[in-house]
Amino acid sequence: MDQGKIVRLGFLGCGNIGGGVYHLLTDMHDEILRRDGLDIQIARALVKSIPEARTDVPAALLTESADDVLCDPSIDVVCEFMGGEHPAADFMEKALLCGKSVVTANKMALALNWHRLQTAADRTGAGLYYEASVGGVIPIIRSLTVSLEADEVDLVMGIVNGTTNYILTKMAQDGSSYGNVLREAQKLGLAEPDPTADVEGYDAAYKLSILSSIAFHTHVPLKSVYREGITAITADDIAYGREMGYTLKLLAIGKKKGNELEVRVHPTFLPASHPLSRVDGSLNAIFVHGKYCQDLTLQGRGAGDKPTASAICGDILYAATHKGCHTVPSFRNIEGASPEISFVENWQSRYFVRLDAADTPGVLSAVAQAFAERQISISSILQRPSEDGRAQIMLVTHEAKEKSVQAALAALDPASVKAQSVIRVES
Ligand code: HSE
Repeated sequence: MDQGKIVRLGFLGCGNIGGGVYHLLTDMHDEILRRDGLDIQIARALVKSIPEARTDVPAALLTESADDVLCDPSIDVVCEFMGGEHPAADFMEKALLCGKSVVTANKMALALNWHRLQTAADRTGAGLYYEASVGGVIPIIRSLTVSLEADEVDLVMGIVNGTTNYILTKMAQDGSSYGNVLREAQKLGLAEPDPTADVEGYDAAYKLSILSSIAFHTHVPLKSVYREGITAITADDIAYGREMGYTLKLLAIGKKKGNELEVRVHPTFLPASHPLSRVDGSLNAIFVHGKYCQDLTLQGRGAGDKPTASAICGDILYAATHKGCHTVPSFRNIEGASPEISFVENWQSRYFVRLDAADTPGVLSAVAQAFAERQISISSILQRPSEDGRAQIMLVTHEAKEKSVQAALAALDPASVKAQSVIRVES
């Protein structure tokens, strides 16, 4: 076999993802050499503690010093698998300033430091690649930056967090409470011991910041992303929503109308017929609408060592063959948001509202009046008896402004009607 071009990699971190990348590159080494003419060599791997490192990666590769990776002139591409913001972002910046291309799946470090990382990459002509940062193996970054580059995307809507999709799917299937399903998922290793980043929507918000920046060609800082997690969702919300024809998902939604952007992460009801409604368990999927491409759905594994390694290694091969020609998304990666863009906070949506109400004359009419006075039209309604002469009333509105719905609910007399849940509905 021909010798091929030697490409030396340095790993920052060698846990689950780093191990997955090590195994893919070992397994596929000869095939990649034959197909692509690249002799990929793993030169060094930074670990926290050599005695505690995984044993399936040769000990000779391991180091506890970041400089053994960052300052080794023979290393061409640095692969960051540390996670978290610091020191990952500083290490990536240093590698880029040394002219080494960087491949990362670290959505947090990227979303919070994108401008300075891209600036470092621009300074030396190194590449910054992050296909695995959103949706795991789903090739959404390259689809948006290459395949759809000529189009005008006005909507990205994704299930980009597998943990929460697993929890919501199990709650829907078993009628179990959020707390019970979370505990079960933690026992099975499907949810982190500290699940905050996933269940409070932070992970999805980092991903939406990246996704919407690329889709809309303008930097969308994390602080512009509205975020709400799934911790307040009940099995009743899911069950009553299903009776009304909806499926609940934690969605990352980016919409563009002219120079106005809406970027929000929150639990969302979708019609049961929507392509994202059928994406269950820990799967991820991203729905895109563009002026010319129209509707497009990409689905796949959003996490896991093998799928993530597949996306990362695609970036590694790209970095190895495109030095000095990195994937600059066609937007000005400035520090904040572009001045011409405004972020909508009082957005228009449909709403599912679950009310706990006294089952007595006039209660429903008072609810209808509070909505009517604020120009909110009700599209469907479901009432179910509950205990002690009370009822559960579920309403789905036509399109209404967020603040109008909040005002209507605040105007209800809490002695007879209390809002239990307000969940946005998309179509
Ligand atoms: N914690 C993420 C999830 C995986 O549950 O989808 C990595 O982004």
